Amino acid sequence: MSISIPFNRPCLAGNEYKYIAEAIANGHASGDGPFTRRCHELLEKELGASKALLTTSCTHALEMAAILLDCGPEDEVILPSFTFVSTANAFALRGAKIVFADIRPDTLNLDENLLEGLITKKPKAIVPVHYAGVACEMKAICKVSRQYGVRVVEDNAHALLARYRGKYTGTFGALATQSFHETKNVTCGEGGALVVNDPTLVERALIIREKGTSRSQFFRGQVDKYTWVDLGSSYLPSDLLAAFLLAQLEAREEIQRKRRRIWEFYNANLREWSQERGVRLPVVPAECEQAYHMFYLILPSLEFRQALIAHLKGQGILSVFHYVPLHLSDMGQKCAARPGQCPVTEDLSARLLRLPFYNDLSEAELSRVVNAVRDFQFKS
Ligand SMILES: Cc1ncc(COP(=O)(O)O)c(C=O)c1O
Repeated sequence: MSISIPFNRPCLAGNEYKYIAEAIANGHASGDGPFTRRCHELLEKELGASKALLTTSCTHALEMAAILLDCGPEDEVILPSFTFVSTANAFALRGAKIVFADIRPDTLNLDENLLEGLITKKPKAIVPVHYAGVACEMKAICKVSRQYGVRVVEDNAHALLARYRGKYTGTFGALATQSFHETKNVTCGEGGALVVNDPTLVERALIIREKGTSRSQFFRGQVDKYTWVDLGSSYLPSDLLAAFLLAQLEAREEIQRKRRRIWEFYNANLREWSQERGVRLPVVPAECEQAYHMFYLILPSLEFRQALIAHLKGQGILSVFHYVPLHLSDMGQKCAARPGQCPVTEDLSARLLRLPFYNDLSEAELSRVVNAVRDFQFKS
């Protein structure tokens, strides 16, 4: 059967074509044109950040963070094993040693209670990932960060506009990274942003983003020629992508409303079924306002999950699992990680299933997914 309800479908917010036509007419298709500036201003105002810089991806924003913090072979970086490769790879690229933390069984976020036990010498950074758009326990993480003088880099790929104790995620760490990949709430296909909350890091962030040159100082009239002054790379997206992104960012409230409706539909209509079947639905602690990024099920076993994926596929519905634990990967082994090191990650990652989730998922499609899930009979 062909797939009629995909896992993700890119959705337009309204002004994308109009803004892209304007960007073409502007004659500024490279980076840092008028649309990039408008995205920066919008993000800085909304988040209250010292600086927001669009990048070509969240991966690149993480790589910028690793350069900015001068990560090197002597340094350790603590991050969850249950995350996307880029969270770790960005720091591994600088030669840093990756220390994998296990996750909390409820939110699947880095377990803050394990942090102190993982600190052997002074780590360079702690990188919490706000999984599924639900904030990590930032109070405890920031306390450890202050106590040991370690910088926090929030991987906020899933959690733009989520809040923890009333404050946006992505505003707690010295740095935070956003993703605008097509699977995210707000997208431009491929894109990201580095959010700089520590003002002392802004100037160098501008240099690193401009191939290690003083180009942005030159354009501000601060130097009379620009030259190579630091490490860096080419992290600027085209202004055409920024035009697409601006249309989405401006529609952020509408996008969040749509996604909230989807999340609440699944949550309300699968609750009883989940209780009968020993299935766990996502947990959102009281201090968190989530970003409605995804809806997942924690199923009783790996076999149950694989059978449910096949059952849904048989009805034209694509559901998917998520991260394979990084500490079990080939590269994880090279970081001296070992199986059994993150037992909660190993257990839950094998049982997690994500349901279709995109802004324009209709009520009829949602009902089809829910009915298909409820009809599933597991034969062990
Ligand atoms: C937690 C996390 N961090 C980083 C990334 C990388 O994002 P990008 O595709 O924008 O590089 C992803 C991708 O999905 C992610 O899930």
